[in-house]
Amino acid sequence: MKVLILGSGGREHALAWAVKRSQRVTEVVCAPGNGGIAQVARCVPVDLKDVAAMVRLAEVEQPSLTIVGPELPLSLGVVDAFRERGYRIFGPTRDAARLESSKAFAKQFMKRHQIPTANYAVCTSPKEVEESIKHFHAPIVVKADGLAAGKGVIICPTRHFAVETAQGLFNGELLGSVEHQVVIEEFLEGEELSFLCLTDGLHVAPLVPAQDHKRIGEGDTGPNTGGMGVYSTSQMLEPTMTEWILHHIAEPTVRGMAEEGMPFTGVLYCGLMMTARGPEVLEYNARFGDPETQAILVRLESDLVDALEACIDGRLAETEMQWSSSASACVVTSSSGYPGSYKTGLPISGLSNAAKVPEVEIFHSGTTRVANQLVTSGGRVLGATASGDSLEEALTRAYEALSQIHFEGMYYRHDIGHRALKQERR
Ligand code: AMP
Ligand code: GLY
Repeated sequence: MKVLILGSGGREHALAWAVKRSQRVTEVVCAPGNGGIAQVARCVPVDLKDVAAMVRLAEVEQPSLTIVGPELPLSLGVVDAFRERGYRIFGPTRDAARLESSKAFAKQFMKRHQIPTANYAVCTSPKEVEESIKHFHAPIVVKADGLAAGKGVIICPTRHFAVETAQGLFNGELLGSVEHQVVIEEFLEGEELSFLCLTDGLHVAPLVPAQDHKRIGEGDTGPNTGGMGVYSTSQMLEPTMTEWILHHIAEPTVRGMAEEGMPFTGVLYCGLMMTARGPEVLEYNARFGDPETQAILVRLESDLVDALEACIDGRLAETEMQWSSSASACVVTSSSGYPGSYKTGLPISGLSNAAKVPEVEIFHSGTTRVANQLVTSGGRVLGATASGDSLEEALTRAYEALSQIHFEGMYYRHDIGHRALKQERR
């Protein structure tokens, strides 16, 4: 099999690494890929905003299977376009991907199907926001309706600030693009959990759970990022809680989408808040998480390609994934300045020493090769992903690997998984 992966981050590097381990796969192509992915796949250029360009790439490459990494091509309908032309592709259609690409749609969908989520109002004008906001206590969460690369959620300490924020979303001052709908939401407290499932549109198979660290600063401070580190253990979710989430959140979501005529196949990523009243959905994503995928896939013992193909063919009920009972962690390093502006083109050294640390994979997010030198090319640069018998062992290995790597201004959080570590030691 020849497998095409669309995307260019750490998630796609981990996907390429896992796909390559499948006995059925003879070639992995990644578009556009990055400097690290080029070590496991043939990288070819493509514009992920251009569905026609991705179709042309499929016509040239003739992949047996295509896997879509990021949300943008899904929201533009790459899956619809590939399917129409008979190319096998893993991911939801444009309509199904609205669970991620429209927060207003997602909230209204959850209400229709009694899926637990924060109380909310969908507003189409600043005036409506002023009216609705009277029913909310501060802090209030204000969300842009559309895709905003992690910048569309603003936690507002006062009602006044929430109204101003919503105005900034409507008039385009905040994100640079004008929003036609804004979601006002109750602020939820608790631990966050990334609960990802594969689905064939009918059946649901959970992946192992993970916890992301979204803030740039240690102790969960500072602005939100794409994700600075993640861990995954068997202990982080009791089997009864997994069952509860499946029965009350993941399965009703997949059933509801099918009933509404837009069956969802692919990865359903439920971003949950584990609140005092139980798990509630913060957001859906229609794709694998980054960096969750890195920590999740190093724990997968069965064949990823078999599982993804079962989703496409509606055979997920017959497929069983095998997971290692070990722990894993991925610690991301970023460029100085991220998530604000940062320099690129900085040489990266020490990768071969890092690779010598046992049970470690270095998945690249923003790297490229210039004249045989690997250099930085993004905000998140790479993630050291490690396994261990315990979370402590996995984290020790990830940090040991990172200590070997160097580039100017290299930053990473030193407290990934620390809350869970304290529990592990108890
Ligand atoms: P989202 O893109 O909707 O997942 O939001 C990004 C991040 O904002 C989440 O991972 C949470 O940390 C935070 N967030 C979103 N919605 C809420 C909420 N209702 N209450 C508290 N935090 C939230
Ligand atoms: N790690 C968060 C995301 O993939 O959206």
